[in-house]
Amino acid sequence: MDRVAVYPGSFDPMTNGHTDIIERSKVLFAEVHVGILRNPQKEPLFTAEERLEMIREIYTDDPAVQVQTFDGLLVDFAEEVGAHAIIRGLRAPTDFEYELQMALMNRRLRDHIETLFMVPHEEFTFVSSSLIKEVLEFGGSIEGLVPPEVESRLEAKMRGR
Ligand code: PNS
Repeated sequence: MDRVAVYPGSFDPMTNGHTDIIERSKVLFAEVHVGILRNPQKEPLFTAEERLEMIREIYTDDPAVQVQTFDGLLVDFAEEVGAHAIIRGLRAPTDFEYELQMALMNRRLRDHIETLFMVPHEEFTFVSSSLIKEVLEFGGSIEGLVPPEVESRLEAKMRGR
């Protein structure tokens, strides 16, 4: 059986914490499908197309990582790409409450799809997409916290504001 996983999220934008989880997932799975949620509740900084383009650029030379957007239920997206696992990163115990709820709901929806929690390198445990946007908005440096493909687009976005 080919081991296939989905790694879902808003990725607005993708951080080095996310890419660290993807690298670790590749040890366990033959294919990792990054699923970018198209319609998050909150207004995103980057459109779904922009997020798709920059994440595809990061993994352009990596056939093990596929990148798509999705709408609707995560378990439907997982089924579409033939995944039997959902990967979620846990940075701190506070992440766990919401993640546990989602994992149990997803299991209720599709009992055969397992959720796997993975822990990023400790140097990224404080990194989140929302903090990245906030620091940049107020003129702070985000160097080393996001991939270069994201950093250049974030700077362009901020200049255009
Ligand atoms: O990076 P995020 O914003 O924490 O990711 C949340 C995400 C995309 C994993 C979650 O909102 C999701 O799966 N949304 C799709 C809709 C869905 O399936 N909802 C029920 C999940 S219990």
